[in-house]
Amino acid sequence: MRLTVWQLVPLLPFVIAQDASSSSLPVSSIPTGSATSVLGSAVSGSSALSTASSTASATGSLSASSAASSSATTNTSTSSVSSSSAAPSPTGSTIVWTPLPNTPQTFTPFPVPSDVPQSGYPPTDPSDPPQVGSTNIPDFGPAWRAAWQKAKAKVSKWTLEEKVNSTTGIGWANGRCVGNIAAIEPRDGRGWPGLCLEDSPLGIRFADFVTAFPAAINAAASFNRDLIRQRGVLMGKEHVAKGVNVALGPMMNLGRVAAGGRNWEGFGADPWWSGEGAYETILGMQSTGVTACAKHLVGNEQEYKRTQSSSEIDDRTLHELYAHPFLRSVMAGVGSVMCSYNLLNGTYACENDKILNDIVKREYGFQGYIMSDWSAQHSTISANAGLDMTMPGDITFDSGDSYFGGNLTAFVANKTISESRVTDMATRILAAWYLAGQDDESYPSTNFDAFKPANEATNSRIDVQDDHYKFVRTLGSASTVLLKNKNNALPLGQRGKFGKGLAERTIALIGSGAGPGRAGPNEFSDQGGAISGALAMGWGSGTAWFTDLISPLAAIQPVARKFSTTLSWLLDDFDLDRAASTAARQSAALVFLKADSGEDYITVDGNEGDRKNLTAWFNGDNLVNAVAAQNNNTIVIVNSVGPLILEPWIDHPNVTAVLWAGLPGEESGNSLVDVLYGNWNPSGRLPYTIAKKPEDYSAQVTRGGGPNDVIRIPYTEGLLIDYRHFDANKIEPRFEFGFGLSYTTFNYTNVRVEKVGGGYGASGIDQSLISAWESGTASNVSTVGSSRAFWLHQPIYKVSFTVQNTGKTFGGDAPQLYINFPSSSREPPSVFRGLDNVVLSPGDRTTASITLSRYDLSVWDTEKQGWKRPQGDIGVSIGASSRDIRQKAVIPK
Ligand code: BGC
Repeated sequence: MRLTVWQLVPLLPFVIAQDASSSSLPVSSIPTGSATSVLGSAVSGSSALSTASSTASATGSLSASSAASSSATTNTSTSSVSSSSAAPSPTGSTIVWTPLPNTPQTFTPFPVPSDVPQSGYPPTDPSDPPQVGSTNIPDFGPAWRAAWQKAKAKVSKWTLEEKVNSTTGIGWANGRCVGNIAAIEPRDGRGWPGLCLEDSPLGIRFADFVTAFPAAINAAASFNRDLIRQRGVLMGKEHVAKGVNVALGPMMNLGRVAAGGRNWEGFGADPWWSGEGAYETILGMQSTGVTACAKHLVGNEQEYKRTQSSSEIDDRTLHELYAHPFLRSVMAGVGSVMCSYNLLNGTYACENDKILNDIVKREYGFQGYIMSDWSAQHSTISANAGLDMTMPGDITFDSGDSYFGGNLTAFVANKTISESRVTDMATRILAAWYLAGQDDESYPSTNFDAFKPANEATNSRIDVQDDHYKFVRTLGSASTVLLKNKNNALPLGQRGKFGKGLAERTIALIGSGAGPGRAGPNEFSDQGGAISGALAMGWGSGTAWFTDLISPLAAIQPVARKFSTTLSWLLDDFDLDRAASTAARQSAALVFLKADSGEDYITVDGNEGDRKNLTAWFNGDNLVNAVAAQNNNTIVIVNSVGPLILEPWIDHPNVTAVLWAGLPGEESGNSLVDVLYGNWNPSGRLPYTIAKKPEDYSAQVTRGGGPNDVIRIPYTEGLLIDYRHFDANKIEPRFEFGFGLSYTTFNYTNVRVEKVGGGYGASGIDQSLISAWESGTASNVSTVGSSRAFWLHQPIYKVSFTVQNTGKTFGGDAPQLYINFPSSSREPPSVFRGLDNVVLSPGDRTTASITLSRYDLSVWDTEKQGWKRPQGDIGVSIGASSRDIRQKAVIPK
């Protein structure tokens, strides 16, 4: 394992306190540099690149010990199967990166979209978003307008330096949070407390007494909006209670490559569902008062060379896939956006005028601010391209200089950047703060210290968990996907299955993933190591400390006692003989598999963030086969960051059941027990496709390039990622996107599609846009906010159908809607665009309904730069997965 210097954080519980007196650098003391030093940004740029790939000698002992332990215990030992689960990686050709020219530019702020006549939807404040399932589109326009007015009033009192300070982080590890904006002194009505920005998308990183929520990939696997919203609300509450202003999530990169290291931080491989995940999460989080941050904009789809690769994405693919979740984030009223490390089409994302200014600010009408990922900024002139805030502030960690700070002031002085642009930057930052209501004096101040967790003076140790573990347990169960269940092997504990009045008499748990880690759940800093016990989150900045982690063993023990089951276990993955003998003659043998990944600054057993193959770690495949050879009721439980190749054992006749538990968070064991014993009837669905072989996926991690090279990553597969590619190329997956079994069965009948009119407030809408759309012509989106215009997003069709529980068990279902565009559109055969959640008793039926907007039925017209309805019939498929289609209909004209 290796760590770069900048991510070296104290390891709990072996915390070595840093000197509490080494307090933050006041912003004014950030060395100002000079315009000339910044003009030489090629030099700064390349040093930023080399920092990202450097390793820290200070981590030597940690690296050495964990490397030793991990090489003995992870997937390198599974060489017999690993070759079949790693596809050849394409090698990226290299490009020459040229810094942006420092061309002086005038600045005209984008009009505030709320100044544009709107649709008549009810004005919405982020504190009171529409309920889940409401067809109302929240109109945050008036709330943004009010926030902008307050922000303008405050910023008008600020000096240029004060405005600049609000855009410039105080430098790595100089404050209490992973990112900090310093306060402005409270005099003459100009005072402002500054900002604390803190990870992560599944909880609060580097804080104690917090909840470790299920990862976003599990939230997505619940296929349930309500649960995603609630997760957002509870995470938001914890951030607020710890005094965080900006929570650095959700993350919504798409999982273009199955082995992508950070895929688990996001919502899976479908753009529409990722967008909905982001939308519900942001509405939930921001309802509590914290500002959310939509990240990473855009094309950070792999960790290998994330700071030195150019994601080459065509305009249509960018609009329909990778940028789409950001559009939904803006529609959810998100206050901030984080641009990504990589280059987009040859220009660093954080200085890419096209994505920052043209798409997000103009086309989406984003009113908040765009911050850089940590050290993802490459120039001062990036302000003109749309970057509003630099994080953590210094050019490279601890470099003591900044592209903003004094350099931004100097660029204003020499008229390269206009002061009105800096005013706009500061106003955006303050507007998001006012929008969240953080000017309320009761908003908690930061009461933890991310970098000095042992410092009693700066850590109030406020317990913010409340009873959130109950929700975590529910979401953990709801996100567990039942992939196989032969002969009703599950649920366990059904009396009568093994003779009169008896449930399983004997159960064996096999594999390290069943038990506690050898040094507790926080064994590795940022979870970056070969986790020796249950795996419940990946590694990197997207983590939180576990206050507690309930292992499967701990959770099963009391239940086994209740059923008078003899429980045995082997928490060893490599002693296959012992595994076989422990499993023999047991009523059921539960085998636990794991696969991990994370962020590139940590390497675990050769997995440099991205996974090096799609094999189960810790000898997992051999373990299953050894157990299945002895036990004809082998049940496999998988905790994985993403797809695995299951071919080595999935068809083994003795493997009766497979539960895909993903990364369920701190209640892992309890969530699993609820599903195993049928307290929760599985209703989770796969948010990605599990292939039969790695090369069946349309894209792999692109590798190659020397240490200083910037490589190209051409997204040649275009719209065809994940199931879209399998469908288009008729490749049989092992388990397709959207798949998941239940302990009962459901059927769908009687599908119908009706027009629901122009929708709410149709009077405010320009009818010519609608007529153009209906005739198949894209309307140019030159106006601000045009891609999120109400006419485009209001519900216009309602698809209804009957769902019946045709089995014997109470349970929930998530019927799915896929659109089949006409072939002239060059869309994939089917694209996911809707779902409903129903809960039914045996025999009961209900009507499910899903609404569709014009946007849902549109494709991006690159020529006209607008959304159009493709010519021809648009079909609708209702199914239990992307391939299990049960009902079809056509959208009426
Ligand atoms: C990650 C971001 C994170 C930031 C601050 C970066 O390495 O890419 O997702 O928010 O660090 O920790």
